[in-house]
Amino acid sequence: MRIVLLSILFIGTLFANSYSTSSEWLMDTNSTQEKFKKIQKQFRGFDLAMVEVGFRFNSFYFALKDKNYPLANYQLDKIKKAIINGIERRPKRKHNSNTLFLDTQYKNMKDTLAKKDSKKIWQEYNKTKQSCNICHVAENVPFINVVNPKYRWQPIK
Ligand code: HEC
Repeated sequence: MRIVLLSILFIGTLFANSYSTSSEWLMDTNSTQEKFKKIQKQFRGFDLAMVEVGFRFNSFYFALKDKNYPLANYQLDKIKKAIINGIERRPKRKHNSNTLFLDTQYKNMKDTLAKKDSKKIWQEYNKTKQSCNICHVAENVPFINVVNPKYRWQPIK
């Protein structure tokens, strides 16, 4: 009985170790072509660009609440950068990114921020949030609805 149990354990261990546990996923890839393919895959597409945009939009919102306009301006520019990088990875998102945000609402928001008039800034903020959502509808992800955040995600003020 003991021998049977031991044998089962031994066979189990053999199977458990039959796959590679190396974490050298890139260095273990032989050709340069394959390495670049793997890196490209890890960079992901427009989704991760949008995760960054969402994260920064949270900070942008609270920066407006705090009237920390230099921080809001900083986050707005990084949102632009994240979208441009996202377009490089997924060019089919270019047209709507440009027409619904980068060439339009991004600029309006930027100009309004520079004037530091909080009433106008909040009006423009609402339009900015709308343009995020208009693009989500245009890009067939209407279920991704941007709302005013409740909590800060960053320990900055
Ligand atoms: C090109 C038009 C476009 C614009 C402009 C846009 N989005 Fe998106 N967003 C998308 C698309 C497309 C997805 C889904 C990505 C995918 O499936 O690869 C998305 C997804 C998201 C997600 C979900 C990310 C995830 O995977 O969890 C968030 C958050 C988001 N957007 C926030 C925003 C905010 C905030 C703005 C405005 C500042 C904005 N988006 C502007 C197209 C856009």
